[in-house]
Amino acid sequence: MINWKEMKNLLVISKLSEILYKWYGTELIWTDAQAKIQSGHLDKDHEYKNQFFAVQMGMPHGHDLINNDIENIADQLKDGKEQTIIFDSFFPHVQGVASRVVVDGEYMGTVFAYPFVSGSLKEKEMKELMARMTEAGASDDEAKSCIEDLRILDESDVEYLHELVELVGEEIVEFHEEITKREHRIKELNSELGDKYRYHMMIGKSKKMQQIYHLLEKVSSSEASVFVQGENGTGKELVAKAIHYYSPRRDNMFLAVNCSAFNDNLLDSELFGHMKGAFTGAVKDKKGLFEQSNGGTLFLDEIGDTSLSMQVKLLRVLQEGTYLPVGATSPKKTDVRIIAATNRDIKKMMETGEFREDLYYRINVINVNLPPLRERREDVPILMDHFLKKRCDEAGLPMKSYSKKCMEKMLDYHWPGNVRELENEVERLVVLAGDDKIITPEHLSPRILESVGGPRGGSNVVKGINTNGSLKQALEELESLMIRDGLKRCNFNKSKLAKELGISRASLIMKVDKYDLDKRKKAANE
Ligand SMILES: Nc1ncnc2c1ncn2[C@@H]1O[C@H](COP(=O)(O)OP(=O)(O)O)[C@@H](O)[C@H]1O
Ligand SMILES: [Mg+2]
Repeated sequence: MINWKEMKNLLVISKLSEILYKWYGTELIWTDAQAKIQSGHLDKDHEYKNQFFAVQMGMPHGHDLINNDIENIADQLKDGKEQTIIFDSFFPHVQGVASRVVVDGEYMGTVFAYPFVSGSLKEKEMKELMARMTEAGASDDEAKSCIEDLRILDESDVEYLHELVELVGEEIVEFHEEITKREHRIKELNSELGDKYRYHMMIGKSKKMQQIYHLLEKVSSSEASVFVQGENGTGKELVAKAIHYYSPRRDNMFLAVNCSAFNDNLLDSELFGHMKGAFTGAVKDKKGLFEQSNGGTLFLDEIGDTSLSMQVKLLRVLQEGTYLPVGATSPKKTDVRIIAATNRDIKKMMETGEFREDLYYRINVINVNLPPLRERREDVPILMDHFLKKRCDEAGLPMKSYSKKCMEKMLDYHWPGNVRELENEVERLVVLAGDDKIITPEHLSPRILESVGGPRGGSNVVKGINTNGSLKQALEELESLMIRDGLKRCNFNKSKLAKELGISRASLIMKVDKYDLDKRKKAANE
């Protein structure tokens, strides 16, 4: 159901309604699917803009007349093929433009602009209209003056009016869909997620991080293997720790090993341990990580960098819970929860035979995919504050803060090194700021200082704009200039220009009105 009452309070609609009156002298009216007027025109204290309509509504059967018209319009629109029509009202030569509102293929109501006369109103026609008005209950004077108030529109005016009324309909549908979507989202958020900004040692309040927290909550209590994927510095190890410390294994060891830091033989001995004399230098027995973390959690970082023969051994531990220390003759048993991580494209590695599929399916029981920082920029400020506080506390310094400009620069940067890079940058800033309380952009690393954020980094030089005076004024000047040039370039095709400028058609029309740029409107006022 469309909330029709709400539409009146919608800025776009009330603006378009003003514009329709200013340019074409018409009232903007909307009705629901039962052809009931919902735009407030039946309210007792409603102020009519258009004289003719005011007089009509003051007639003994004024309401019935308009209701009759509306029902006819609705009938035409409901079943016809056309989205928008020009209709004849009860009064001869007086017309309106009506457009239907359809949501998901269902007719929801009508928007229309009324009344006007198209082409001309000849002496004889005027008399006809006068007669009909007085018949319906208007006084001679009333009829005369309100007929004079009717706007006479030429073909191109009507064409454009047609477009505008259709646009109002589109705006209503869009607004309705927006509201519906938002309501769904709010429901979804309320039912599933709190507004957590941290989980164990992880900081972040973006929707993406909330979803990760939610997943981790469910994962922790289980015994399933977890596979964490994400770029370098996204916090893969923090995820592993969070899972361990919120799991029933929390009182046992959490150990981490970076598989890419060892060659095959060393990794073998690191993970599984070795017996005295197993190789030169093995002067005594050594416990491997699988033994040390027995009952706890072992984090296998960079598992994508292990050899195929190592992968076979890992698979065996996962499947059977047994392994063979280097130089041993009988296998050992272990009860370790495995959390593995990689920043490599594991799917591709399976295709090229570099990573065993059976191992992948064994560790990927639950998959946690950490989004890069550039996809959750809303977490940048909270992370900046977190690391700043951490640094200042550790160094025993009074708390510092960032200047606005510094903050902006950090927000614009795309953070290829993710949270780790951000953490390092903050550390650097704290050192360079020395005794300064406020951290200013000049201490930023050059790559951050020089980065230009996304679409804002254009190179068009602003010429001919008065850069003295207020910013607002200068912006308005620029806006008006861009629209004026654009209108010419697009041959006054507003849909095309709106797309080019990246704004909605409705807001373009509002701006055209604000800056007085429309050629048709000028014609109408002459
Ligand atoms: N969400 C986060 N909140 C706080 N610190 C984070 C977060 N993500 C990463 N870090 C920090 O960034 C650094 C890199 O994290 P790490 O888990 O080692 O990343 P990865 O293993 O993905 O390369 C660590 O110092 C870690 O504490
Ligand atoms: Mg890591």
